[in-house]
Amino acid sequence: MAHPTEGLAPDDILVRNLEEADLDSIVKIDELAMGHARPDFYRTRIGVALRDREKHPTLVAVVDKEVVGFLMATMQRGEFGRPEATAVIDAVGVHRDHRRRKVARALMDKLLLDVRALGASTVRTEVEWNDFDLVRFFSSQGFAPAYRILLERSP
Ligand SMILES: CC(C)(COP(=O)(O)OP(=O)(O)OC[C@H]1O[C@@H](n2cnc3c(N)ncnc32)[C@H](O)[C@@H]1OP(=O)(O)O)[C@@H](O)C(=O)NCCC(=O)NCCS
Repeated sequence: MAHPTEGLAPDDILVRNLEEADLDSIVKIDELAMGHARPDFYRTRIGVALRDREKHPTLVAVVDKEVVGFLMATMQRGEFGRPEATAVIDAVGVHRDHRRRKVARALMDKLLLDVRALGASTVRTEVEWNDFDLVRFFSSQGFAPAYRILLERSP
């Protein structure tokens, strides 16, 4: 088994579709990143994804039989006045012991193939401006600021 800090060859990373049994691993990866566990959020989100896989392409990355990363997206068709299909990445996470080993890149490569096959012409996401790991990762994958602004207010 490779040491977690070593690089991985592409064949060492298996990327597959989400399964129901992946819930605990995803919750753990997210908890380590966020500092608090969100099992209810992910139980619901995974349930939605499993009911309609084409609307919610959701992938996990497996290294040495362990789920070490996940990537969740939603296909939008028509929202915000966009006639073309857009894939929106709403969650991505890699276990902190396996970062900088190209796990997220392997997930992204597969997601791009899948959403292209589903007709997406754009892939979009949203990140906190100062979440530098995420900003740098998305930048490395060819993402750039969109020609749109995000608006919000309290209800
Ligand atoms: C952002 C994140 C997904 C990246 O995963 P990863 O598997 O480590 O990324 P990769 O190894 O595939 O990196 C690919 C490229 O992205 C860039 N990159 C990724 N993380 C980076 C970092 N911390 N600093 C600078 N560049 C980075 C690099 O260009 C890297 O290529 P290189 O290692 O050859 O330089 C991971 O850091 C993470 O899970 N962060 C927490 C996100 C989170 O909060 N998720 C939970 C809520 S949804």
